[in-house]
Parts: sequence; structure tokens; C-alpha cells
Amino acid sequence: PTNRTFTMIKPDAVADGHSGAIIQQIESAGYKIVAIKKVLLTKEQAGQFYAIHKERPFFESLCNYMTSNVIIPMVLEKGNAVQDFRTFIGSTNPELAEAGTIRKQFAKSMEANAIHGSDSDENAEIEGKFFFSEKELEQRL
Ligand code: CMP
Repeated sequence: PTNRTFTMIKPDAVADGHSGAIIQQIESAGYKIVAIKKVLLTKEQAGQFYAIHKERPFFESLCNYMTSNVIIPMVLEKGNAVQDFRTFIGSTNPELAEAGTIRKQFAKSMEANAIHGSDSDENAEIEGKFFFSEKELEQRL
């Protein structure tokens, strides 16, 4: 498996001023930030990013939420990054999120769940390339 994953700090967490705390915890957990930026997605871009969920009942609401404020996408590097990062952020449902995880601390609901983490190496690469150029992903650590 590759040693990279993709994440984004979602609109609610950025709006609430938690991005610094979240980034600090990510770095303390041993992840190196390969690439980072602040972006306000258009509806079209949000729909494209979450195209896999197009048929889900929450799709429209998800696209509205994801464009409600800026997000902070990042590509992270660490051994076993994809799997470890999903454990680190906790369950999608904050009520089920394990103590100490990012979502346990900062998620407000199933939708406004503070942070995203790719679910596979393949998706990590696709999602990283959605936000960053090849050049930006060449960063030395
Ligand atoms: P994420 O894992 O980043 O990708 C899909 C997103 O859709 C998820 O985070 C939530 O923000 C949202 N989501 C997933 N399941 C639900 C649900 N049942 N109801 C509302 N939003 C959801």
C-alpha cells in the first residue's frame, strides 16, 4: 500500500476555529503534511467530489454543507496512512466515534463530522489529485 492518504477539514470545523487543533493532532500522531490549502468549493465541485454518493438521500444536503464555508484539504504521509488515519478520526457517526478521536472531539452530526479520510489507497490518490497538482504532490518532507 502507498504511504499517503487524503483528508479535508470540513466547513463546520473550520468555521468553529478547530483547524489548528486538528492539524496539531494530525502532526502529533506522526503524519507529515505533503500538501495543504484552503478552498471554497462550488456546488459543482462538491457534487463531483462526492459523485459516488449521488443516489443517496443525503447527497443534496451534503453538497450544500460542503460549500457552506471553506475547507482545508491535505495530503498526508505516514506508514499505513489510509487505514491508520480512519482509525485516528473515528466513526462517521460521532455518537459511535471512539474516545480521543477527531470526530469524537469535534463532529456535530453524521453530516457535519469535522473531517474526511479516504477509504482506500486508490481513492486517496484520486481525491488528492482532485485538489492538488502533480507539482504540489512532489513536496519534500
Ligand atoms: P465522508 O466520509 O467524508 O463522506 C461522505 C459524507 O457524507 C460523510 O463524510 C458525511 O459528511 C456525509 N454522510 C454520510 N452518511 C450520512 C448520513 N447518513 N446522513 C447525512 N450525511 C451523511
